[in-house]
Amino acid sequence: MEIQGKVALITGASRGIGRAIALELAQQGIKRLILVARDRQKLVEVANEIEAMGTETAIVALDLTQTIEINIAVAQLWRNFGQIHLLVNCAGVAYQSSFLQSKMPQVQEELSVNLLGMYNLTSLIARRMASQRQGTIVNVSSLMGKVAAPTMATYSATKFAIIGFTQALRRELAEHNIRVIALLPSLTDTDMVRDLKLFRWVIPMTPQQVAKALVTGMQNDSPEILVGWQSHLAVLCQRLAPWLLELILRIATPPAPTKQQPAEKLKTLIPKLSFLTRIHRFGDLFLSRT
Ligand SMILES: NC(=O)c1ccc[n+]([C@@H]2O[C@H](COP(=O)([O-])OP(=O)(O)OC[C@H]3O[C@@H](n4cnc5c(N)ncnc54)[C@H](OP(=O)(O)O)[C@@H]3O)[C@@H](O)[C@H]2O)c1
Repeated sequence: MEIQGKVALITGASRGIGRAIALELAQQGIKRLILVARDRQKLVEVANEIEAMGTETAIVALDLTQTIEINIAVAQLWRNFGQIHLLVNCAGVAYQSSFLQSKMPQVQEELSVNLLGMYNLTSLIARRMASQRQGTIVNVSSLMGKVAAPTMATYSATKFAIIGFTQALRRELAEHNIRVIALLPSLTDTDMVRDLKLFRWVIPMTPQQVAKALVTGMQNDSPEILVGWQSHLAVLCQRLAPWLLELILRIATPPAPTKQQPAEKLKTLIPKLSFLTRIHRFGDLFLSRT
């Protein structure tokens, strides 16, 4: 996709991966960015950074679980700014909990933001893209949309669903000249994972690396963009030796914190996992030499 002269709307743009994608698209010379999230102040800060790079911005402080608000916002955006060429559905939430102790409000929030919010916004914008016979939609899934993680059942379910949704739309919207892409980051250092300390056995990627992978993937016309060698290895392993992946996941996934087993005690488990960290470092070194 040619980025120059285009208008993109990015959800989850106030921080983390969404913010990094916005900055990377500005770096690549996009014309205008529409930044969506709930926190207006943070959006203003991101917008200021982007405008200093010469890209126009508009901010929309919006809760993606509020269907009517989304409808009104999209109608206003189309009237005020015209066509949106690129939609990046990046907003998301994640909670870690043992399935047997999961809390319904958290489950509902994950489903509402990660799936229904994305679904609603996409349907409103895809209809307009179809009438213009032009558009690209990027849905941010996760490596957990290919390899489900214990203690993250609902989150993994939403991310698997995003892959299915994306595949279906890709085939259905192709006749309207709309490309639909899935972005699958692995563990990335953002606010989202700061509460998931026990998954730190894998060295996280930076949001900037994820954003660069997206731009490269779009240039290469990739329908699914896996980010980082760990993701490629995990997906390959799942395909060729699923038993091995099961074993690795069993060793690598610490039990979710419970009243009987506080997080403090679990920290003692982390050193046992350091061999995976060493594999990660070796992989990075190997890739940097090739
Ligand atoms: N970090 C990782 O390891 C990782 C790995 C794979 C995939 N991902 C995916 O990447 C995407 C971005 O994650 P991140 O790591 O950048 O997380 P993050 O730093 O926690 O950012 C989440 C973003 O979503 C927005 N958001 C949350 N709830 C919202 C709501 N109800 N309405 C509107 N916006 C909402 C937040 O903005 P406000 O709080 O201002 O609303 C924020 O901008 C997510 O889809 C996540 O599942 C992350």
